[in-house]
Amino acid sequence: MLSIKNVTKRFSGIVAVNDCSFDVEEGTICSLIGPNGAGKSTLFNCVSRVYSIDSGNIFLNNKRIDNLATHKIANLGVGRSFQLTRVLDELSVTENLVLHTASGFNIHLLKRAVTKDDEVKAEQVMEFLGISHLRHSSMKELSYGQKKLLDLGSVLMADPSFILLDEPAAGVNPRLLETILDRISLLKDQGKTILLVEHNMEMVMGISDKVIVMAAGSIIAEGKPSEIQSNKEVLEVYLTG
Ligand SMILES: Nc1ncnc2c1ncn2[C@@H]1O[C@H](COP(=O)(O)OP(=O)(O)OP(=O)(O)O)[C@@H](O)[C@H]1O
Ligand SMILES: [Mg+2]
Repeated sequence: MLSIKNVTKRFSGIVAVNDCSFDVEEGTICSLIGPNGAGKSTLFNCVSRVYSIDSGNIFLNNKRIDNLATHKIANLGVGRSFQLTRVLDELSVTENLVLHTASGFNIHLLKRAVTKDDEVKAEQVMEFLGISHLRHSSMKELSYGQKKLLDLGSVLMADPSFILLDEPAAGVNPRLLETILDRISLLKDQGKTILLVEHNMEMVMGISDKVIVMAAGSIIAEGKPSEIQSNKEVLEVYLTG
């Protein structure tokens, strides 16, 4: 489904992503793991075209997407998680969800009323994530973990077929971590394809079909979770990184 071919991204002197290639097969969960600064988020941002790449190509269903604008990529069914800064404090949970339409984050929607369709979709998403009771809560009333769920909900509003999640469970408590991992698995059961960026190797082992390990901009290993867990080079990076 997604094919990353020889992608390189530099920031002035730093090669953040160095000649990386891998595929994410349809209907699977692929996790991109690695120590801080490995280049995971940068690669993630290259796929959703927050950054343009310096060399290489990115294909979605055999269509080249590295030359497309962000909203066009979203229109192809690619949904990405938003950082918490995208969550607007003065709005309710429902209003925050409704801002995320099929063409991506759209602040202009604030200028029109929330439609019945928006509300129905937002209700479905809140129910899926178990946050329906928060529908009228303002952002100020939410815990950090509840905001992380809302972050995930924002991605689901546009019903993407390919979902990119950058540390969707960073810093949440163990119970919420289980909930989030469970929901990600359910999304796969619904036929979605997921690229998950994570820092913590343990976290992704149970739910991933494939794990890609990055370190210092390069891919150092790729395989099934069991293969990665016993890979000496990977363990070394984690122990010394
Ligand atoms: N916008 C930017 N401008 C300059 N350098 C950047 C920028 N974004 C990332 N970098 C650098 O690129 C490298 C990779 O960073 P990146 O954020 O992709 O790592 P990461 O694997 O996501 O790390 P973490 O696990 O901490 O989130 C780092 O050296 C970082 O300092
Ligand atoms: Mg990151």
